[in-house]
Amino acid sequence: MTPPTTGTEFGPTADSTAGPLSGQSALVTGASSGIGRAIALRLARAGATVWATDITEEVVEGGPPVADPLSRISAASCFERLDVRDHAACAELCARIAEQHGRLDLVVPSAMTPGRGSLAATSPEDWRRVMGVNVDGVYNILSGGLRQMLTQAPRDEVRGRFVIIGSQHGMVASPGGFSYGVSKAAVLQMMRQIAVEHAEEGIICNAVSPGKILTGKSGPAVAPEMLAYSEARTPLPRLGRPADVAQAVLFLADPATTFVTGHNLLVDGGWMAG
Ligand SMILES: NC(=O)c1ccc[n+]([C@@H]2O[C@H](COP(=O)([O-])OP(=O)(O)OC[C@H]3O[C@@H](n4cnc5c(N)ncnc54)[C@H](O)[C@@H]3O)[C@@H](O)[C@H]2O)c1
Repeated sequence: MTPPTTGTEFGPTADSTAGPLSGQSALVTGASSGIGRAIALRLARAGATVWATDITEEVVEGGPPVADPLSRISAASCFERLDVRDHAACAELCARIAEQHGRLDLVVPSAMTPGRGSLAATSPEDWRRVMGVNVDGVYNILSGGLRQMLTQAPRDEVRGRFVIIGSQHGMVASPGGFSYGVSKAAVLQMMRQIAVEHAEEGIICNAVSPGKILTGKSGPAVAPEMLAYSEARTPLPRLGRPADVAQAVLFLADPATTFVTGHNLLVDGGWMAG
């Protein structure tokens, strides 16, 4: 298996009290592996108390469960099993984080399941499987998070923040990516709806859309022809790393980022500029 490309998972310091997210709570879905994992660890390194959630503790790219590095960065942070398809469980966890921490500051939906094939090749079962995680799952955690955030008093004018993980494939069509692309377009529209509908109430909602990110996983997404296609589409002379995405999430999560909402931040090495 290709080794993960995250570099050090601990960063320069294990002191989690001094960062920009100090005192904040954050929930990340799909945090056992890949990009979600890098986001959870980056937020913890920035001082947040992180609930890293996933349906499994297994790491797609291999290596120790996320709880290991997470607990070494931040003793208050934890892994919790959460299937984003379970609406009640999503709501319950959002409320419980607020109970334990005082409030829920940030939700980052990153969990996803891949979908391949054109419309002609997409069975109703495949369609439901992809939508169940990538659309319903994002709705479930956003809805649970929002309901909790709306009960909280604003802090620095903000009741709570969402950073939704989209994709460049939710913005342009990729051949053979029908259900996945449609699911990613849907979550980008959720982001805009929430940003507009709940701005008055102090909710900040943005998205980060990665280009091709090498997470260390094997399979069709990193088949040689797929990598060659992604390299040809990416102006910068490398593909992305999970840490690149995590850094963009941190920018949008930072309480100092006060006037950005309804924005889709591309982390794609220039893919969508070409
Ligand atoms: N890797 C890329 O090149 C790339 C490009 C664009 C967008 N993205 C987006 O980034 C995010 C992370 O992608 P990745 O490549 O790191 O994927 P990944 O497969 O490495 O991680 C996805 C995680 O989601 C979890 N998951 C699946 N079903 C779940 C469920 N029902 N409940 C909770 N967790 C569940 C998996 O267990 C896994 O840990 C996704 O939203 C994806 O669409 C990735």
